[in-house]
Amino acid sequence: MAISIERIRPGEWQTLRDIRLRSLQDAPEAFGQRYDEAAAMPDDEWKSIARSSSSGNRRIWILARDESGAPIGVVQGRRRPPADCLLFSMWVDPAARRTGVGRALVDGIQDWAEGWDAERVVLWVLAANEPAMRFYDRIGFTTLNEGPDAISGHAWGAFTMQRTARRHSP
Ligand SMILES: CC(C)(COP(=O)(O)OP(=O)(O)OC[C@H]1O[C@@H](n2cnc3c(N)ncnc32)[C@H](O)[C@@H]1OP(=O)(O)O)[C@@H](O)C(=O)NCCC(=O)NCCS
Repeated sequence: MAISIERIRPGEWQTLRDIRLRSLQDAPEAFGQRYDEAAAMPDDEWKSIARSSSSGNRRIWILARDESGAPIGVVQGRRRPPADCLLFSMWVDPAARRTGVGRALVDGIQDWAEGWDAERVVLWVLAANEPAMRFYDRIGFTTLNEGPDAISGHAWGAFTMQRTARRHSP
């Protein structure tokens, strides 16, 4: 399947809202935010998120689209100074899974992060979400067992995983 992976544009707030709501309906067990919380967010908040995520080094949302341009996946990255990129909100439409969309979205986040010289991409995956852990393991993430990120993750039932940036890899 030919897919495109692109950073959100400032005017794409409705597309972002729609795919985020789809993800929270499809996989509520995978995320910290609840569907009704996200659905209640005012339009201005979505506009602000899309705008602030469309450029710069602070935050990014990336959309995957199929050949027809329909959104089929989404992911969010945030910079945590000095050199960590936090990855959140990863979701691929069930009909498009196991075709490389998730891998391409994570690579998109890592490409952005390496642009500001991130050392690693870090994420939290709920312990019950074994399919996602297998996915992250498959694409080169390892589980962290110590340190503040591992401890904070364990406190809410999540594993912490990381992937080192290419230029920082041994
Ligand atoms: C986890 C998720 C994002 C994976 O997306 P995807 O588009 O299916 O992943 P890809 O097709 O890019 O898979 C990349 C590799 O991981 C493997 N993989 C993907 N899902 C897997 C699974 N459930 N079990 C084992 N391996 C898996 C693929 O086979 C592929 O391996 P390959 O390179 O040998 O072919 C998707 O299943 C999803 O949206 N799940 C629901 C939401 C969720 O749990 N998000 C994570 C929150 S932390």
